[in-house]
Amino acid sequence: MFYPLAKPCIAKEEEDAVLKVLRSGILSIGPKIKEFEKNFAKKIGTKYACAVSSGTAGLHLSMIAAGISKGDEVITTPFSFVASANSIQYVGARPMFVDIDPLTYNIDPDKIEQKITKRTKAILVVHIFGQSVDMDPIIKIAKKHNLKIIEDACESICATYKGKNVGTFGESAVFAFYPNKQLTTGEGGMIITNKKEIYEKCCSLRNQGRASNMKWLDHQYLGYNYRMDEMSAAIGVEQLKKIENTIKERARIASLYQKHLGAYRGIVQVPHISSNCIHTWFVYVVKLLNFKIDRDEVIDKLEKKGIYTKPYLPSIHLFSFYKKQYRYNKGDFPVSENVSKSSLALPFYIGLKEKDIKNICKILIQVIGSCRKNNMANKKPKVVLIGGTGFIGSHLAQKLWNKNESSLVVVHKSKQDHSKKLPGVIFKRINLKRSCAQFESVVKDADYIVILTQPNKFIIQNIIKSLYRANSLKKIVYLSSILVYPESKNKVSEKTKIGPKGEYEQTKVYEETILSEFARKKNKKLCIARPVNIYGNTEDKGIIGKIFSSACSNNPFTIYGTGEQKRDYIYIDDVIDFIEYLIFFNQKKNIEVFNLGTSEAINVKNLIKLISEITGIRIKIKNAKQRNEKKNIVSDSSRILKLSSKNIQNNLKNGLKRTSGVYANL
Ligand SMILES: Cc1ncc(COP(=O)(O)O)c(C=O)c1O
Repeated sequence: MFYPLAKPCIAKEEEDAVLKVLRSGILSIGPKIKEFEKNFAKKIGTKYACAVSSGTAGLHLSMIAAGISKGDEVITTPFSFVASANSIQYVGARPMFVDIDPLTYNIDPDKIEQKITKRTKAILVVHIFGQSVDMDPIIKIAKKHNLKIIEDACESICATYKGKNVGTFGESAVFAFYPNKQLTTGEGGMIITNKKEIYEKCCSLRNQGRASNMKWLDHQYLGYNYRMDEMSAAIGVEQLKKIENTIKERARIASLYQKHLGAYRGIVQVPHISSNCIHTWFVYVVKLLNFKIDRDEVIDKLEKKGIYTKPYLPSIHLFSFYKKQYRYNKGDFPVSENVSKSSLALPFYIGLKEKDIKNICKILIQVIGSCRKNNMANKKPKVVLIGGTGFIGSHLAQKLWNKNESSLVVVHKSKQDHSKKLPGVIFKRINLKRSCAQFESVVKDADYIVILTQPNKFIIQNIIKSLYRANSLKKIVYLSSILVYPESKNKVSEKTKIGPKGEYEQTKVYEETILSEFARKKNKKLCIARPVNIYGNTEDKGIIGKIFSSACSNNPFTIYGTGEQKRDYIYIDDVIDFIEYLIFFNQKKNIEVFNLGTSEAINVKNLIKLISEITGIRIKIKNAKQRNEKKNIVSDSSRILKLSSKNIQNNLKNGLKRTSGVYANL
């Protein structure tokens, strides 16, 4: 087995084109450069393009052409290839780093303004890994502070933001054609711009600062030899002809990774695709979510199995040169550092088949499993998740697996074979509608039981029957629902009287009641969690899923009633954090109840508005008559927030942004 990290895709057309150049006798400053430049400018949609010897050279010339010089400051990202920040220093200016967005790994626009000083002249945005920076807020900031925008689009050829090509937002933009890029010329780069004076200056500077109208005689600037040769340009011309197909194929490979890693979103964070962007996939980078796993050990172990991966990317401010020059330290840009420490690029090139990707994903998860540190001196507590392969259960199982502090058994009813999903976890397919010995033997030595099943009187009765045999049981965590409360104008707290109406909520209350009886009788701990509407990366519809689907499919979303109905929504990762807390916290009273929510409500109309803002898509609305809808209940979650001293990590906007990535893949 051998999977390199990257591989250029060179065909006969490129070979023929290079041979033709070699035989023509014109190896530099010839027609191929002109052809490549003309076609490139046309493809991206700018007036001018100037081919250079590398992306780095292009960035250097863009800085000079923008008039950046000694004493100036340029805002940029620490999460990039080193050349972006270096190019700022080539002209004597200082890169001013701004931390990145934890989802897209691009510069975080919200943190830019605090870094702007009197000396700031420009923002060098880097469209990382093939996906555009969130440009609208950056354009706004640049206008407000009279700053230039220069784009490092080296990794993002043909990527778009809100339908507009990357490279057309700034004064100039630079692309790179190293062999691992979507388009290669061997070595090479391209500066594009709509400004004639920028173009002319770059053309002169790449050619020793020669004046264009004087041919040989005058050197008007201190120039460089940053020319691209004719052979490289000839390769570029051929590669550009197939760029659409190349990108389509890379997107297909990326979507196969997304598919085969989709089940492991609690273990690896897969690339986030912003719904207003077309991603053109320079690399496929995943982030390990268990901070205790040594990423470098994962890379070494994968290499031994013939799978070549690489840290992507180290944070620039922690390179020794930067640390020395600017006294940067660990912790200066925590988001960037966190991604740097735990991310790796997987093999990614045209030619990878689905079976290869399946294989790579399977081995990746196995290797991560083998790198989990055994951090428990004593026997690990046994946690049984009943109904543990659904939306909530699978997230919870991955979180607990990542932590590696418990031995896990997942009881499920689905036919699917889950056994290979989490190495070391026991998956048991059991029909709980029938009381059975198999289930008794699972819970016999369980320390913690988490009940996540759909409400069903027979199932809960059978579970309880078996629990009488669970001698070492410390706690039952039962996932109920906020719907057990009656509709209320105020936030409902655990003190609010319950008032179940429909069958679903009545069964939930029944289950809470008989579990409580069991807990009292057997002197066991019971913790009841009543979550609000949970959403997240699931294809399971629900109102948020339906709104996203409407946005993606351009179909109208139906609002039943006025659209003023207010609900409280909580992102899956926060619910999982809370449930994990509830399993292990030192519960004093026998029976405890907790509401899990954000304590904030939003009405349907505003929810649609927010999703529309995030996706950049106008969502059509259809109005229909009020129907029997779920109740409007807002949770007062202060009890769990206070007790667990946990914060809600994902406010609605952030949670929706994370959710939008899933729909952008579909
Ligand atoms: C973001 C970024 N900037 C600049 C460069 C420099 O390009 P080159 O290697 O062609 O000099 C690269 C190349 O990998 C890059 O990824």
